[in-house]
Amino acid sequence: MHQGDIKKVLFTADDLAGVVEDMAARINADYAGEKLLVVTILKGSSVFMADLIRKLDVDVELDFMVVSSYGSAAQSSGTVDIRCDLRTDIAGRHVLLIEDIIDTGLTLSKLVAELETRDPASVEIAALMIKDIEREHAIEPRYVGLVCPDEFVVGYGLDYNEMYRQLPYVGVLDEKVYS
Ligand code: XMP
Ligand code: MG
Repeated sequence: MHQGDIKKVLFTADDLAGVVEDMAARINADYAGEKLLVVTILKGSSVFMADLIRKLDVDVELDFMVVSSYGSAAQSSGTVDIRCDLRTDIAGRHVLLIEDIIDTGLTLSKLVAELETRDPASVEIAALMIKDIEREHAIEPRYVGLVCPDEFVVGYGLDYNEMYRQLPYVGVLDEKVYS
């Protein structure tokens, strides 16, 4: 892995720590006295989740999902394929979905709709980043850390071809890596 593959650092490790701290404070206030089921969408959101939960003082249980989405912003009929489902019965539970980055919103809009059919007490979204684009998939994340320019970003869990996840910052990948 070459540091030179990163064209520009968008969010430093310090920026990310501050954002995580602020979001955790809001979650602690909103869910005081409740027990949370934190659902992480693998793999990219794992780093964010690991940092976030260590700032939470509400009771937390963890579960994980693997999903893949097909289609694009231009195809509102896109679907989400649940490759690996929850082990937990979410009926009556307060679910907090952890997502690394919201792009078109397709993944989360379909996933929230699916989880709502399972009668949870609530389903909310905590997203580290949201891309600065027009979005046709209606999505209302309760917690959003950062607005990200419409570029392909890696690091802090996010990958390109499974690489760069371990970077402690979020950066824009140089086009030379694609070509
Ligand atoms: P949608 O369009 O469904 O996409 O909101 C969300 C998923 O797409 C991936 N994604 C990215 N992954 N750098 C990445 O490494 C990016 O810039 C990027 N944009 C979208 C991500 O997996 C997210 O869950
Ligand atoms: Mg990826």
